[in-house]
Amino acid sequence: MKGLILSGGEGTRLRPITHTNAKQLVPIANKPILFYCIESIKNAGITDIGIVVGSTKDEIKAAVGNGSKWGIDITYIEQDAPRGLAHAVLISEDFLKDEQFVMYLGDNLIKGGINEFVDEFRRNGANSQILLARVANPQQFGVAELFKGRVIRLEEKPQKPKSDLALVGVYMFDQHIFKAVKNIAPSWRNELEITDAIQYLINHGYNIQSHIINGWWKDTGKLEDMLEANRIILDTLTTEIHGFVDDDSKIEFKVVIDNGAEVINSVIRGPAIIGGNTKIINSFVGPFTSVEHDVKIEDSEIEHSIVLEYSLIKGIKGRIVDSLIGKNVEVYASLLKPKAYRFMLGDSSKVGIL
Ligand code: TTP
Repeated sequence: MKGLILSGGEGTRLRPITHTNAKQLVPIANKPILFYCIESIKNAGITDIGIVVGSTKDEIKAAVGNGSKWGIDITYIEQDAPRGLAHAVLISEDFLKDEQFVMYLGDNLIKGGINEFVDEFRRNGANSQILLARVANPQQFGVAELFKGRVIRLEEKPQKPKSDLALVGVYMFDQHIFKAVKNIAPSWRNELEITDAIQYLINHGYNIQSHIINGWWKDTGKLEDMLEANRIILDTLTTEIHGFVDDDSKIEFKVVIDNGAEVINSVIRGPAIIGGNTKIINSFVGPFTSVEHDVKIEDSEIEHSIVLEYSLIKGIKGRIVDSLIGKNVEVYASLLKPKAYRFMLGDSSKVGIL
């Protein structure tokens, strides 16, 4: 069995972060989302994994490499433009050949892994197996209609959903999917939709099984979903202090402090993670916050946020919450006159000020 991770796409909902970064590399508890996908496929016993990449291919290749750090083989498959999930399957035929495979959307997180579902697919002889989860807002997802456990219809973002069962971003297929992706037409948004490809299999009498998952999963395409994923994963940490914490500081609840980090006269209230060489000085880092390596936070308060590497937060009077702060960002109290806000913000930035 092989793995296929989809790591192309535009990531429009996460701009401006995705103007310069692949969304699959945004860290959750200081580890790129994509690494969780790779590890979860590897844990299911699959060591031959293809990654579909788009315009951010160089960054993804640099972060993942050839897979040797996980003891697996990675093959990159280049997609010229985000032409849809089914298009990503279409261009991966040479890599996948006639083996069964698991397709994993590179921005999805499933707590607890996928072993159980992959084992079931290995055993049940289905042509495809999809994962479903009950959601409160099925209008925003691909939705499945079941009859006696078998999938009879899929609809992409239906206005009147026939069920509350949303498609989770992990799919299992055998080689019949190639016939399907070659026989469907692009949708109104000009993408080859995976829901249409699966519907093609259903209409042609193939066996599509489904598995309703009860555990937590998230499609991290939007900021609030990233923050929720960060919350859930941080909560699974156990305290590990490798860096320096001075006597005037307090570490509360579950906190990871990496090598070379320094906490001076500050309170870190977990769950939180502080990356290597980061300095927290006269500050409060509150629950559900991930701070990457080489960041400086001084005379400031932050909680429920993600801060990427090489950024500076200094002298901010109000507490920063619910934020995703990119790399090399500087947020600081200006001493210049006139007393005023001074911004240099990239396209699609969002700033909420008091
Ligand atoms: P989406 O989140 O559906 O699309 P997107 O990444 O373009 O984001 P947005 O809607 O914010 O613009 O994609 C799900 C995953 O699949 C994600 O990891 C990107 C990947 N993908 C591809 O690799 N190729 C594609 O053609 C598409 C549409 C997505």
